[in-house]
Amino acid sequence: MDYQILKTEIADGVAVVTISRPQALNALNTRFFEEMDSLLGELGPRAEVRVLIITGEGKAFVAGADIAEMVRKTRDEGREFSRWGQKTFRSLELLPQPVIAAVNGFALGGGCELALACDLRIAGAKAKFGQPEVGLGVIPGYAATQRLPRLIGLGNALYLLLTGEMIGAEEALRMGLVQKVVEPDRLMPACLELAKTIAAKGPQAVRIVKQVTRRGLLMDFEAGSALESDMFGSLFEGEAAEGMRAFLEKRAPNWPGPAKT
Ligand code: CAA
Repeated sequence: MDYQILKTEIADGVAVVTISRPQALNALNTRFFEEMDSLLGELGPRAEVRVLIITGEGKAFVAGADIAEMVRKTRDEGREFSRWGQKTFRSLELLPQPVIAAVNGFALGGGCELALACDLRIAGAKAKFGQPEVGLGVIPGYAATQRLPRLIGLGNALYLLLTGEMIGAEEALRMGLVQKVVEPDRLMPACLELAKTIAAKGPQAVRIVKQVTRRGLLMDFEAGSALESDMFGSLFEGEAAEGMRAFLEKRAPNWPGPAKT
């Protein structure tokens, strides 16, 4: 596909995806979803891509779904637009590789929802988060009503959803919405360091721990624990032998696989 909005650079096992529509604060339009679907389909199967980082160009991460495009929609079109976005973000969430949101600026509405669908969120100190939809007479359409309470608890979620208030990075950290806040000029270096830390671990174990944790959330405790045991066992036919032998031999592991980082 000819990517116009998503710019991707891959180095050392880390794919950095930059959303580049700064004139509209990277607002999410139909073209974005077409490109994101295509990109996820391309990157997911690539074993040498160990971690993704998603960020935005300019002063926004993403300032929401594209209001200029949404304003014309009918009821049926609105439902379809929501379903499409939900499906794309679910694919992102279930991507085999871990995904880090490098939140550089405004993460509002659909932009906050995009960050929620990532596995980890690192914020620049000037980042702003919010779900302002009710002020526009709508509600979130990309599953913030479902992900936010699971991530930050019902009270914090309803506070953001009902007030539409924009909060700063430190408040987002306090609520558990982000894992870390760094100075703006440290955002990409910090995210790259984090990505490389993850990329240096056992590649099978990294993918499996993400899937077990995410899928386990949808199961009851016993079923999730059973899945954990199955997948724990499966690694003994994979890289576990090398990882544990390396520890005992006091050396760095030499992971099997196409790319060493
Ligand atoms: N959709 C479309 N265009 C947007 C946009 C959006 N979500 N957010 C910003 N833009 C556009 C502006 O219209 C403006 O375009 P023009 O230069 O052509 O006028 C350009 O981006 C720059 O924006 P501002 O001039 O407004 O920049 P600012 O610094 O003064 O304000 C802001 C920044 C506070 C983020 C403000 O742009 C804003 O409030 N944006 C909308 C945020 C919002 O309500 N998002 C939720 C959308 S609904 C949604 O996301 C639903 C869903 O879940 C599916």
